[in-house]
Amino acid sequence: MLENEATLEIQHLVSEFKPGDGDLLAALHKVQHHYGYVPKIAMRVVARQLRLSEARVYGAATFYSEFRLIPPPRTLVGWCSGPACRFKGGEHVRKALEAELGIGMGENTGDDKLGLHLAQCNGTCEHAPQIWVDGKVVGPLDAAKTVRLARELKEQP
Ligand code: FES
Repeated sequence: MLENEATLEIQHLVSEFKPGDGDLLAALHKVQHHYGYVPKIAMRVVARQLRLSEARVYGAATFYSEFRLIPPPRTLVGWCSGPACRFKGGEHVRKALEAELGIGMGENTGDDKLGLHLAQCNGTCEHAPQIWVDGKVVGPLDAAKTVRLARELKEQP
């Protein structure tokens, strides 16, 4: 989509929101619901609509972890940062994932096929240390199992 078309589409999307801070989160949520993330250009449009600085909008989008600033990957890998997973070696799992996929937390692979994100304990600690692949628990893992899994994920069509 061309930048002007995108701008118009986003303007239309957030046109209901009133100037000021009060609608900032609602506007960002609406953009994210529509695109699956908050594109950079949307921050400019939201700032203009709400008559706020771009820095203010960017600050809110980066402060709240529910906002994604990059497109959703085809497969989302969540690494559990909870205490049980960390205690049982979660850091080794994290390092193996990051090294094998070549990305850090909050990033996608260049083709947007895989993305890594920091997740919180969801109460399935009996599988610690674990990750979630598109929401499905995989664990307990160690570094070697993680590398094998990451290779399989990279090779999937
Ligand atoms: S600490 Fe990882 S699932 Fe509970």
